[in-house]
Amino acid sequence: MNRRNFLALSAASGLLGTAGLAAGCGPDTGRRPGPPPALDLSAPLRIPPLLHPERTADGVRAFELTLLAGRSELLPGLQTDTWGFNGPFLGPTLRAGRGDRIAMTVRNTLPAASTVHWHGVRLPAAMDGGPHQPIEPGAVWTPTWTLDQPATTAWYHPHPHGATAQHVYRGLAGMFLIDDAEDHGLPAQYGVDDVPLILQDKKFTADGALDGDPLKGKYGILGDRMLVNGTYQPRFAVSTERVRLRLLNGSNARMYHLVFDDRRPFQVVGNDGGLLGAPVETTELTLTPGERAEVLVGFAPGDDAVLRTEDNGVDLAAGDFDLIRFTAADRLQPSPTVPARPAALPPIVPPAGATVRRFTLDARNGINGRPMDPARIDEVVPAGAVEIWEVRNNASSHNFHIHDVAFQVLDVNGHAPPAVAAGYKDTVFVPTGSTVRLAVQFGRDVDPTAPYMYHCHLLRHEDSGMMGQFLVVEPGTEDSAPRTVATAPHRH
Ligand code: C2O
Ligand code: CU
Ligand code: CU
Repeated sequence: MNRRNFLALSAASGLLGTAGLAAGCGPDTGRRPGPPPALDLSAPLRIPPLLHPERTADGVRAFELTLLAGRSELLPGLQTDTWGFNGPFLGPTLRAGRGDRIAMTVRNTLPAASTVHWHGVRLPAAMDGGPHQPIEPGAVWTPTWTLDQPATTAWYHPHPHGATAQHVYRGLAGMFLIDDAEDHGLPAQYGVDDVPLILQDKKFTADGALDGDPLKGKYGILGDRMLVNGTYQPRFAVSTERVRLRLLNGSNARMYHLVFDDRRPFQVVGNDGGLLGAPVETTELTLTPGERAEVLVGFAPGDDAVLRTEDNGVDLAAGDFDLIRFTAADRLQPSPTVPARPAALPPIVPPAGATVRRFTLDARNGINGRPMDPARIDEVVPAGAVEIWEVRNNASSHNFHIHDVAFQVLDVNGHAPPAVAAGYKDTVFVPTGSTVRLAVQFGRDVDPTAPYMYHCHLLRHEDSGMMGQFLVVEPGTEDSAPRTVATAPHRH
């Protein structure tokens, strides 16, 4: 990776309109003479390869992931130095089912230490891939656990302390689909009518290098080139009457406010932590970094529709950008009808007298007045607890993610959340000046020495310390749990 190119500041962004680059209609187009070039949205959407290893007789699914450096043609005709899993950019889609014993073999061939965190997966803290499980260059990490959670769309990405923003920006991210024994009545042909869409914004120099510093400025990267599964200006050929889109905001900071150009309605059937009890019809959906949603979109023969992100007034959603075009064939295969009840997950209900913990996100990217210290345990939670976490944002835009939990949003500034936010989640937007109250279901894997993380998922903020650590321990042992972490923080 050419670090100098990578860190070249956006002073070079004035060069982005030069011939050879199909430019989008970013917020910077106003600075260039003449109208922005027309968008063509014709590149075939890349579908990340599916890794769905056979289950052995004793129920093990063994996955192999290699972190590597490579080159990618992200913009037409230009080569970009990138990082990826098993390939030069992004990673395969992992697929496994509830009850599977997962055996990961993760090799790091990068010149830097990294980690791999399974975001949205509920598992023992030592397997979580947070900052305390570094994989040194040349080393192999082999976490194992038994999957035990409802069907959902999770993902994986590095989590090295202070370097997550750079590792993700260079391309390290992938999806992790979790199935369960139920038939949810949803389209399920991977890449045909069940389609992952990893949404990311980037900046490029004129010669195609990744541009911008993910640790500079208020939010790090707010790019002006939109990639979907690493495809610039993509098109997806629709062959069925209805398509299930698994949307992941894999961006460093951008919020997507998703709409179709023809304002067609779609049904939200799932979000971060699982499928919904009832589909929610809408024409718009917002996703902040780390959030996922599953939606069903209906098409008529010959339809042509563009999914876009539009500026909704929130600074993180600045600019209007086309993301992907859908073109429907003249004859479409029949699809299942929209299920009335995609899943029936029990509501997360805090007991009377539930523990309430309060977190204030402050302007200097700390939580409750202090930045993350990898050696400090901030909270100790009894296994299996349902608690109320109250997150207050006094500062600029933030969101909030908790490892190893499912939560439901109780209220935002005292008001019930919108219907689409009703399901299980693990990441939530916390708008400026607001308080979001969460009912949090903690897991049952205990470890008094390995913490889980909670943090803002704007990666620039996460890296600069808007993060805390919690232990999950045997109920009754909270007071004797250590408040420091023995392992020395890893240096990058
Ligand atoms: Cu997606 Cu702590 O992360
Ligand atoms: Cu996570
Ligand atoms: Cu933040």
